[in-house]
Amino acid sequence: MILEQGVRIKVPASTANLGPGFDTLGMALSLYAYIEMKPAEATVILPSGDGMQGIPRDKTNLIYEVAQMVFEEAGQSVPELEISMRSDIPLTRGLGSSASAIVGGMYAANALIGRPLPDSKLFDMATALEKHPDNVGASLYGGIVTAVWDGQHAECLRIEPPADLEVLVAIPAFHLSTVKAREALPRSVSMADAVFNVSRASLLTAALSAGRLDLIREAMQDRLHQSYRSELIPGMGQILREAVAHGALGAALSGAGPTLLALMDRNSVHKPELESFLSEVLAQHKIEAQTMWLDPCREGVRELTVKEAAGFGE
Ligand code: HSE
Repeated sequence: MILEQGVRIKVPASTANLGPGFDTLGMALSLYAYIEMKPAEATVILPSGDGMQGIPRDKTNLIYEVAQMVFEEAGQSVPELEISMRSDIPLTRGLGSSASAIVGGMYAANALIGRPLPDSKLFDMATALEKHPDNVGASLYGGIVTAVWDGQHAECLRIEPPADLEVLVAIPAFHLSTVKAREALPRSVSMADAVFNVSRASLLTAALSAGRLDLIREAMQDRLHQSYRSELIPGMGQILREAVAHGALGAALSGAGPTLLALMDRNSVHKPELESFLSEVLAQHKIEAQTMWLDPCREGVRELTVKEAAGFGE
């Protein structure tokens, strides 16, 4: 079965490595990419919006490629596609743009052929490509996820974000590839640092599940990756050390960076102070950056009705 009229989907951005949850804890964020996919006579890829200039418009396009993986897995053939896409998620800044593209492309393709594959299969396939189950799980299932990847199979449990949790991101204008940020990491860590992170990742997961925002400050600490990456993001060390003194519940590098993220109680009177602090520290280090208040996104990728999707490509 192929839906000749096509499908339209909306997929959220995500933050990975939440605090101590390196490669483990992710959260979907209220920043989105949109994909429309239809069967066609000949393949045409139509990206629109900022940052889409370099996106391939032929069959090497990532969304086209992941769609074909889904069709092959499902034993279907849809070789020619019209794909329109628009994204508000900045690329290579640590906000899960590639996971969103992979999850969105796979979800759209599966919807186009009547959903033969379960979401758990899409999770495995997307993680095999993307490698980061915390980004993939968050974009697929929404909310906060605690995710595990054994090289073949991904597991994840979704946690409903606490109602008062809000997220401030400071998105530097420069790009940082995950490969480069990964090269900054040591090959092994001490038992003390491993225990430090396991204990805090466990506490953070429990605190978020229980809505205990008061525990986030202690629970957000990390010793596995942030300090090794601080030279790649000037100002990061100071922001992570001092954000709490400006009202944040905790702060972290988002994914492999360069975006910095602070968790905040949405009722806090310190929101303007925190935002100014992040902007000023980055400006002192001559880093151009955009700040944005986001919500945890409770929904994962989903199909839009024609009416909801009207005008998304504009
Ligand atoms: N967890 C990965 C890393 C980034 O820190 O290298 C995923 O966005």
